[in-house]
Amino acid sequence: MNKQQIGVVGAGTMGQGIAQVLITNGFDVQLFDVAESALERARGAIGNGLEKLVSKQRLSGAEQQAALQRLSTLTALDGLAGCRVIIEAAPENPELKEQLFRDLSALAPNAILASNTSSLSLTRLAAVCDSPERVVGMHFFNPVPVLKLVEIIRAEQTSDATVAHIESLTQSLGKTAVAVADMPGFAVNRLLVPMINEAAFLLQEGAATAEDIDTAMKLGAAHPMGPLALGDLIGLDVCLAIMEVLFEGFGDPKYRPCPLLRRMVSAGYLGRKSGRGFHCYD
Ligand SMILES: NC(=O)c1ccc[n+]([C@@H]2O[C@H](COP(=O)([O-])OP(=O)(O)OC[C@H]3O[C@@H](n4cnc5c(N)ncnc54)[C@H](O)[C@@H]3O)[C@@H](O)[C@H]2O)c1
Repeated sequence: MNKQQIGVVGAGTMGQGIAQVLITNGFDVQLFDVAESALERARGAIGNGLEKLVSKQRLSGAEQQAALQRLSTLTALDGLAGCRVIIEAAPENPELKEQLFRDLSALAPNAILASNTSSLSLTRLAAVCDSPERVVGMHFFNPVPVLKLVEIIRAEQTSDATVAHIESLTQSLGKTAVAVADMPGFAVNRLLVPMINEAAFLLQEGAATAEDIDTAMKLGAAHPMGPLALGDLIGLDVCLAIMEVLFEGFGDPKYRPCPLLRRMVSAGYLGRKSGRGFHCYD
């Protein structure tokens, strides 16, 4: 097993970012995806990401070349067998992730298996593995090369050694880890998304305009962006899905999704990605 070798499963938005941060910090990455086209897009995005760092003089040309040489892409899962850590960033689908963890657990019996899931239970994922003590959550934030936080989620079965290893890996990526128990929404989404949901209630009740709600939080609470604009950036469908997870997971009415949020998602007003959400975008 190669300590410097890390597997990344899924080459979408998050997998690309995670792979980029790993290779710029000296790790060899085996980036796996089921789709060759996703791997091609990921190579392009990572190349652009490194180019940006060079133009900002945060990386030299030689370091850029060395980083790119540390990246391998593959469509055969068994290429991950020699990795010390495997970070899964496949779609947020419980059956798909459980199958992946079953396969990875058999393929790499000594590797730490980390999931970047935003909302699924790590305890349930660990339960499908042969040695569940090596399963852990490693929740990065988008865009991964920019945002410094990693939430480390301890499943009921996760060992102290697994958590310690992931904490040290997080630190070597120049990021800060916070440890959070395996409960719905972890810490950041449980705080952030109900705030967006509450802003939607304010708007629904006619208490203030969308512009004024956002201005209130920017100027009154020093938030860099108002809650409704933030919801539009995250995607209103994603916000609604997180509220559903919180509502179901805790069974507490304080997490009920705002009816206006539901209506907007049904109408296809998903925020920036659809050109219209609480605000309009060109
Ligand atoms: N996008 C975000 O802002 C964000 C933030 C934090 C966490 N997450 C979590 O990260 C994970 C990935 O999200 P994303 O936004 O990068 O998704 P994405 O849709 O951009 O990428 C998913 C990738 O996984 C690939 N894939 C599909 N089936 C696969 C399989 N069986 N094995 C391997 N790869 C497979 C797809 O081809 C695609 O390239 C999800 O669990 C999500 O909840 C997302």
